[in-house]
Parts: sequence; C-alpha cells; structure tokens
Amino acid sequence: MTLLTWNDSRNVGVQAMDDQHGILMDTMNELRLALLRGSGHEQINENLKRLIEYTRMHFQSEEQLLEQQGFPGLLSHRAAHQQLLLQMRETADRAERHEDKEIHSLLYFLGGWYFEHIEEHDRQYGPWLNARGVY
Ligand SMILES: [Fe+2]
Ligand SMILES: [Fe+2]
Repeated sequence: MTLLTWNDSRNVGVQAMDDQHGILMDTMNELRLALLRGSGHEQINENLKRLIEYTRMHFQSEEQLLEQQGFPGLLSHRAAHQQLLLQMRETADRAERHEDKEIHSLLYFLGGWYFEHIEEHDRQYGPWLNARGVY
C-alpha cells in the first residue's frame, strides 16, 4: 500500500476546490497511514468516518458552487457524487463488520475513484468556471 501523491494534472483551476481536493487526499492518506501502523479497529473506523464526512462536505460545497454558476453538467455530476458516497458508505459498513479484507478493497476503490472523478468530472467545470471569472 502506498500513499497517494498529488500531480498537477489533477488541478481543476478553482482554488477552493483544489484546496478541498488536497485535504481529501490528506484524509485518505491518514487512513492509509493508520493501517500501515497497524492501528486498532476503533481508530480505523474513526478515520473512515472522518473521510466520509469530509467527502460529503466537499461534494456539497462543489455542487453548491456549480449550482450558483449555473453549470450545465450539474445533474450528472451530482449523480456521480451520490453514487460514490453510497458505494463508500456500503463498503465502510462492511469494513466495520469484517475488518481487514474490506478495508483493503475500500482503499483500492477510494484511490481509484478519487483521481478518476477529479480527472474525468471535476476537470470539466474548471475551464468553464474560469471563463466566467471564477478561479
Ligand atoms: Fe466532483
Ligand atoms: Fe471534487
């Protein structure tokens, strides 16, 4: 298991969102570090809860920004967020019951969706917002 690292191709070009994406990555890395250190079940679940809560807050804040600006892709973007959050909660629930195996598949899933979602979805609104003076 490795820690997630940032790469400029993941910047969306809107400061507040780039900042939140950075914090989200740090939160995921905290969970990875806790696992690497062999932290207990309780600590891991605590990290997971924090990650889900922060993800929920980020999605909400991103959708609010897109809504304010009238971004045309808002509905499908919101649907992608809801789907991710649902998958995340379901996997976290399983992890809470069965521990290790599920936690590792959750981490695999998280690392994947995180960068995929930013690169495929979030980067679409960057230039669109920049063209309207939002940076
Ligand atoms: Fe998003
Ligand atoms: Fe995002």
